[in-house]
Amino acid sequence: MSDSPSLPAQIDALRAEIDAATLTTPEEAEAFRVRFLGRKAGAITALFGQIGTVPPEARRETGQALNALRQSAEARLQDAERALAQTASAEATDLDLTLPGRVPAPTEPGSLHPLTQTLEAIQDIFAQFGFTVARGPEIEDDWHNFTALNFPANHPARDMQDTFFLEEPPPAGRGVVLRTHTSPVQVRVMEEAVKSGGGPPIRVIAPGRVFRNEAVSFKSYFMFHQVEGLVIDEGVSFADLKAVLFAFARAFFGGEPKMRFRPSFFPFTEPSAEVDVWWEDANLPGGGRWLEILGCGMVDPNVLSAVGIDPERYTGYAFGMGVERMAQIRYDVDDIRLYYENDLRFLSQF
Ligand code: DAH
Repeated sequence: MSDSPSLPAQIDALRAEIDAATLTTPEEAEAFRVRFLGRKAGAITALFGQIGTVPPEARRETGQALNALRQSAEARLQDAERALAQTASAEATDLDLTLPGRVPAPTEPGSLHPLTQTLEAIQDIFAQFGFTVARGPEIEDDWHNFTALNFPANHPARDMQDTFFLEEPPPAGRGVVLRTHTSPVQVRVMEEAVKSGGGPPIRVIAPGRVFRNEAVSFKSYFMFHQVEGLVIDEGVSFADLKAVLFAFARAFFGGEPKMRFRPSFFPFTEPSAEVDVWWEDANLPGGGRWLEILGCGMVDPNVLSAVGIDPERYTGYAFGMGVERMAQIRYDVDDIRLYYENDLRFLSQF
């Protein structure tokens, strides 16, 4: 027999060598694999080859010791390979933790929607004239939207406003609708004033959304905004209405805008008028055209009676203005759909 060290002694020596090995580079890991685990010349493979030199009664134990040795060499190699792969992928992303942080992409500041800006401008002006703001629901009943406003039952005046019905009109149902105008807020404000014992004087505007069953085009939409106005007191006349509307137009458009009152009809006012402003446009024949901005009139005595206000003692005026139309004039935008598309290329201009 040779006088080389016994197999158990060689196993111990290899274990010490495996434990002491450094495996911090790919080259070291590869050298480790060849040295210990190589199929042909690996040190552990070689020791397996010597198992026959061990006395039969010790073979089982020696075999187990060799298997354990191989497993621990494989475990060390696996750990080292995993750590090396992680380092490699971190390097591949060019991650340099010493660099200063990136400046985030600048965030555009938002801005108020052009309709909101227009509405606020209108409200500010009427606030200066002493009007307070009232609001009402967008889902209305037949009484507030029509009947109290002197629309007779089954009267064609109800068709003036293509209505979205949520419930059949009376007598079949309660005639719940998406309000077709802000005029029902007039009724609510007057009813409230009477109920609270205050009664007139009343001086309010009521801004809000209204809905009509209309085909969408550049000039009409199924939803838009109005600002209602209502003044009730003793001795209120049509001259007061004209004065307020002229003062409003001067404040809103600036300068001395050209305005005209045209006789018109609304069930809830008598007399009634529609008001146009002159829209300068050198490209149009005549240098411009008249644009309707609102309807108005003296509150019909029937409306006052319906809410319990004495029409012998009180008179009043009312008006209803289209906000989209005011915005169109203010911003020179003549397609109403643009206000509802939420296209940032449009909105960011305001
Ligand atoms: N409610 C009317 C409409 O939507 C507008 C209107 C006209 C309102 C005359 C008024 C008014 O207050 O007096 O077409």
